[in-house]
Amino acid sequence: MALIDAVTLAEKLRPPRALTAVGASLFAAPAPGSTAAWMAWWSGAADELAEVTARALAAGATRLVAGGPPGNYVESGVDAADVERVAALTGHGFTVRGEHVDLQVRTDVAPRAAPGVTVARCDDDVDETIRAAFGDGWAWESARAREHGGLFTARGDDGGVLGFAAHSGNLCHRGTFGPIGVLPAARGRGVGAALSRVVLADLRARGFVEATVPWVAAETVGFYGSMVTITARTRRLTLARALSGTGWP
Ligand SMILES: CC(C)(COP(=O)(O)OP(=O)(O)OC[C@H]1O[C@@H](n2cnc3c(N)ncnc32)[C@H](O)[C@@H]1OP(=O)(O)O)[C@@H](O)C(=O)NCCC(=O)NCCS
Repeated sequence: MALIDAVTLAEKLRPPRALTAVGASLFAAPAPGSTAAWMAWWSGAADELAEVTARALAAGATRLVAGGPPGNYVESGVDAADVERVAALTGHGFTVRGEHVDLQVRTDVAPRAAPGVTVARCDDDVDETIRAAFGDGWAWESARAREHGGLFTARGDDGGVLGFAAHSGNLCHRGTFGPIGVLPAARGRGVGAALSRVVLADLRARGFVEATVPWVAAETVGFYGSMVTITARTRRLTLARALSGTGWP
């Protein structure tokens, strides 16, 4: 049985996106406006998967995703190298719906300013701005990052928010970068790089020589590669199972 360490478990059970323990597994009901439920952690026990499925159906979900959820994940997706786990999930009706990578990066980056942009630690409540532009998951995660002093914003000369980046919004004891988002109109002029460098430097100041950048789409790896040394990549799969009204199995 695959068990979660106690520090991680305590974090996952906390607001603003508290998960529910089902034995040694973790369940997340769909977020508002979504019909995807999440098996945030699976111990490997078939009866716990059955219970998670029953809870998902009761919550009105039409699909169950292994890994996640955005905003309070234990793992961003199932490690593709863990062939036994992938086989166990596919044996229970899950199929691969997508893939991404978690990057391991060095935190020794030099700061680099973007013209007309001020990057600073953010103590204000900017949740609604983040939610409106990037959704609930990133708003939850950045709210938790702010609690740990790990939320930063980039603002223009008029004080308006151009983008944000965070660390310690998730798995903060492991040194975790993200999320990062730059408003579409402000992209391509160095805002994301300026934010990332400040966030990585802050992680380094807290003793993390390396950090994990989870949930990176293939087309975004180049953004990180342009500024940091990538030391490892973990290929992760999004595995999901459609739910019928007939329950489990
Ligand atoms: C990814 C994102 C944060 C980049 O922000 P940005 O302000 O546009 O990026 P910058 O202008 O600072 O670009 C920095 C460097 O990365 C490169 N870059 C930017 N976006 C890139 C991408 N998607 N793929 C590859 N390289 C990219 C730029 O060319 C630039 O390279 P250079 O220094 O050699 O000129 C922004 O596009 C965004 O918010 N996207 C949506 C949210 C998202 O995907 N977040 C990342 C989740 S892992």
